[in-house]
Amino acid sequence: MKIVVIGGTGLIGSKLVNKLRQLDHEVISASLESGVNTITGEGLNEVLKDAHKVIDVSNSPSFEDKAVMEFFQKSTLNQLTAEASNGVKCHVALSIVGAERLPKSGYLRAKVAQEGLIKESGIHYTILRSTQFFEFASRIAKDATTGNEVHISSAAFQPIASEEVAAALADIAIGPSLNAAVEIGGPVRMPMAEFIRYYLTATGDSRKVIADEHALYYGTELNDESLVPGENARLGKIKYEDWLSTQLVKA
Ligand SMILES: NC(=O)c1ccc[n+]([C@@H]2O[C@H](COP(=O)([O-])OP(=O)(O)OC[C@H]3O[C@@H](n4cnc5c(N)ncnc54)[C@H](OP(=O)(O)O)[C@@H]3O)[C@@H](O)[C@H]2O)c1
Repeated sequence: MKIVVIGGTGLIGSKLVNKLRQLDHEVISASLESGVNTITGEGLNEVLKDAHKVIDVSNSPSFEDKAVMEFFQKSTLNQLTAEASNGVKCHVALSIVGAERLPKSGYLRAKVAQEGLIKESGIHYTILRSTQFFEFASRIAKDATTGNEVHISSAAFQPIASEEVAAALADIAIGPSLNAAVEIGGPVRMPMAEFIRYYLTATGDSRKVIADEHALYYGTELNDESLVPGENARLGKIKYEDWLSTQLVKA
């Protein structure tokens, strides 16, 4: 089976490409680096020739509201159009748990728009909605920092190791299309502020976390249901403290 991974050089993409190659599939990593641009369409038809499945794990270079919406709409439409003309059988995409519950966030609106285009395309699909990756902690903290304070929502959070998301995507990609969205989350639920505080303390970062139920997360307030998966979600096994101590030893 020829599988094209759009965004194959990224955090998830690089792990996914390795996993699928270990399973003996023909896997093409497609991204700007390999001359495939989903925004201009450059290289898309060529890379999708004879492909059975496409897995989209690309991401917008900018998280600004208008830019991120343009990215996910244009990129997804160009992929789906090229897939239709090349007879691709299935489109798999990575989205975010709870995106539809948070319309005040420009980034999450863009992910909902991406999902909508896929569902309306007529091409068979599976959408995996994941909670936030462990690796995302530094960006969440950075984007919520003012001076030496990090204002973080106290709402429930259930992050996951990106390697477990990549493994679930590989599993989904080799199975039949579900024409539905399924969820995956981490093994432990905790307040987001507690997670970020743990990350900063463990990495020797002196910034102070201020837990605040009104703190914005990418433009939106959160509640305890906003970002956590439903009861049928797949759950990862790797705990954050184990994962982080392994990363710190490696570093
Ligand atoms: N962060 C989270 O916690 C989280 C949670 C749930 C879901 N997600 C979703 O997971 C997906 C993957 O995220 P990630 O963190 O793995 O992304 P990432 O590491 O930022 O990688 C982005 C990838 O997109 C490629 N790319 C960007 N613009 C492109 C274009 N115009 N044409 C072709 N390729 C392009 C990049 O290619 P080059 O390397 O060649 O530039 C790179 O391979 C995203 O859709 C995100 O919404 C993220």
